[in-house]
Amino acid sequence: MSNPMFDVVRADLEALEEGLLDAVGSPYGLVTEIGTHLVHAGGKRIRPGLCILAARSGKNFSLERILPLAETLELIHTASLVHDDVIDGAGTRRGAETANARWGSQIAILSGDYIFARAFALIATEGYGGYILKRLSELVCNLSIGEIIQNEMIYKASRDLDAYYERIQKKTADFLEICCELGAVVGGLDPADAKALARYGHAIGMAFQITDDILDILQTEEQIGKPAGNDIRQGIVTLPVIRALSVSSDAKELETIVTNRKMTDEDVRRALAIVRETDGVDFAMKRADDYLAHAKEILPASLPKEVREAYEMVADFIGDRDF
Ligand code: FPP
Ligand code: MG
Repeated sequence: MSNPMFDVVRADLEALEEGLLDAVGSPYGLVTEIGTHLVHAGGKRIRPGLCILAARSGKNFSLERILPLAETLELIHTASLVHDDVIDGAGTRRGAETANARWGSQIAILSGDYIFARAFALIATEGYGGYILKRLSELVCNLSIGEIIQNEMIYKASRDLDAYYERIQKKTADFLEICCELGAVVGGLDPADAKALARYGHAIGMAFQITDDILDILQTEEQIGKPAGNDIRQGIVTLPVIRALSVSSDAKELETIVTNRKMTDEDVRRALAIVRETDGVDFAMKRADDYLAHAKEILPASLPKEVREAYEMVADFIGDRDF
C-alpha cells in the first residue's frame, strides 16, 4: 500500500499479511488455494489498520495481543465480500477474479463460511473477554441485516434517505466503528477516548460507503476493478440516485430504468447520464465531507501525535480516493 496513512503501522500490517495467509490455510488444498487467492487479491486493510492504530494509542499496547483481533476483523470482511460477490454475481473485485467467478458459487459460499469460521478460531484462545465477542457478533448480525435490507429494497426506486443511511450504517459504518472501538479496548485506552474513537470510526464509515456509492456512478471499470453503474444494474439505489430521483427533470425516466429488472447496458448508461446531469454526486460528496470533518473534530486530544495524524490521513484518503 503506497498511501502514507498507515505508515505508522506499516510493519504491523506486514505481520498481519502473514497471519492472514496462515489463518486461511487448511489441510484441504483447494480451500488453501482459494483463501490465498483472496488474501493476495489485497485490499486497503483499512479495518485492521484502524484497529491497530487504536491499540497503539493505549497504555497496554502489544502487537502480539492485537494482531489476532486485527486479523479476525479483516477475515470477517473478506468472508462477507466473498458472499456479497456471490449475491451480486460479480466477476471481479479489486481487479482480481472473484471466488465465484473462478470456482463457482457453491464453492465460493463454502469457502466464505470456512474463512468466517477461521476468523473466530483466531481469537478463541486469546482471552479477549465476552465484550469483544458480543461486539463482533453484533457486527456480523448488522452486516447480514444490512445486506437483507438492501436486498428487500432493490428495484424499488425508494427516495427514503433514512433507509439509505440505516443500510450503509449497518453495512459499513458499524464495521469501521467496531474496528476503532475494539482496538482501543484491547489497547487499554481510557473508556471515554475509546467511545470517541468509535464515533470517529462510525463517521468515516458513513463517508466511506457514500464515496463508494459515488465512485460507482463516476468511475470506469478499469478504475474501480468492477463494472461501473453496477449498483444501478443491481437495482441498488444509492445517495446520488436518490437525489436525482428527487430533483431531475428526467426523474420519471430514471425511475423506469432503476425499477426494471431487465434493464440493458444502454439503460444503465442512460441512468448514469441522468444522475451525472444533476447535483446528485455533489450532494452526496457534501454529505461525505460533513462526516469526514466531524470525524476529524471528534478525535480525542489524548491520542499520540503520529496516531492522530494517521487517523486524519485516513479521513482525507476517504475524501480524496478515486478507487
Ligand atoms: C460490500 O458492499 C458488502 C458488504 C459491506 C456486506 C456484505 C455482507 C454479507 C454478505 C453478509 C455477512 C456475511 C458474513 C460471512 C459475515 P457493497 O456491495 O456496497 O460493495 P461492492 O460494490 O464492493 O460489492
Ligand atoms: Mg456488492
